Amino acid sequence: MATLAAEGLTFTALPLASPTSDEARAAVLANPGFGTHFTDHMVVIEWSEGEGWHDAVIGPRQPIALDPAAAVLHYAQEIFEGLKAYKQADGTISLFRPEANAARFNASARRLAMPELPESLFIAAIEELVKADAGWIPSAEGASLYLRPFMIATEAFLGVRPAKQYKFIVIASPAGNYFKSGAPAVSIWVSDYTRAAPGGTGAAKCGGNYAASLVPQAEALARGHDQVVFLDAAEHKWIEELGGMNLYFVFDDGTLVTPPLSGTILPGITRDSLLALARDEGLTVREERYSLDQWRDDATSGKLIETFACGTAAVVTAVGRVVGRDGEFTVGSGGPGQLTGKLKARLVAIQRGEAPDPHGWVRKIA
Ligand code: PLP
Ligand code: COI
Repeated sequence: MATLAAEGLTFTALPLASPTSDEARAAVLANPGFGTHFTDHMVVIEWSEGEGWHDAVIGPRQPIALDPAAAVLHYAQEIFEGLKAYKQADGTISLFRPEANAARFNASARRLAMPELPESLFIAAIEELVKADAGWIPSAEGASLYLRPFMIATEAFLGVRPAKQYKFIVIASPAGNYFKSGAPAVSIWVSDYTRAAPGGTGAAKCGGNYAASLVPQAEALARGHDQVVFLDAAEHKWIEELGGMNLYFVFDDGTLVTPPLSGTILPGITRDSLLALARDEGLTVREERYSLDQWRDDATSGKLIETFACGTAAVVTAVGRVVGRDGEFTVGSGGPGQLTGKLKARLVAIQRGEAPDPHGWVRKIA
């Protein structure tokens, strides 16, 4: 069986030899956690220098064979995305801003010298997978199907240059709360490590950025924190972002600040959505640099009343405690603030089809 995808490509559907039983799937969906359970299918599309994008397949999720000289294994030529499919109140399925993920995927591809994937093909691949694995979308509040599109360099060649062969793959994982603790606010550690420098890959969603964040993140966990916050590379003064989330600061005059897209942070789609939703509410949001010292002073004086982290996996999560080598402070009450809760509710209601979608962000899957 083959279905027309996009860009003249059709998906070849391969049968599942051993689909997960209804009982086993129900057990996973009852308590999905984050990133440990996977659905039955995956999509694979090949790219080569001569043929461009070709051989699109939807079939059983299974190990992929790679030559041990494949460029991704040596030089980390890899990019990925993260987005979610939601079961709506009326039983339909929707994606949230997949066009924005497609655009960011291509921005990452350009930075990593990889081929761009037409936006229509990116979205068709995701929709194909979600339709095949529709039974894997949890319906509990806060739960969704996390989608992970990624691209790897598969050419067997050890010279350092862009590969001439790639695989684009999409897998899916039922998701509940990202933070295991489920605590109402997270505690963060101010890292001495640098995540990204000007001219580097900080704005790209490439695996290498996350590999480099593992030691700082492990340090945060070892000290009893949930996440690590990175400061800028040049002055080690300006707040950039967490290991996998952007940050917002809320002040007592009702204004918000979020660090600007300077090229060293990931341009989060949740960050962008909250910027629009806050402005819809008539709030003033400034994209400007904010220093760790100022954060501490403002939290201590009471001028800063809330801080929250945002991202696809973490949605909107309050930051309660901040600890670094130079001391620690608590933001507001140490728990989720009012505006954090309000913006989260606004965003989630749109994502789940429970509120009007004035920006046209929700894409229903037929
Ligand atoms: N910053 C980093 C480093 C991330 O990994 C993520 C997660 O994707 C984000 C920010 C938030 O981005 P988004 O809202 O698009 O998920
Ligand atoms: C996401 O929020 O989609 C992320 O990629 C963050 C983390 C799971 C890497």
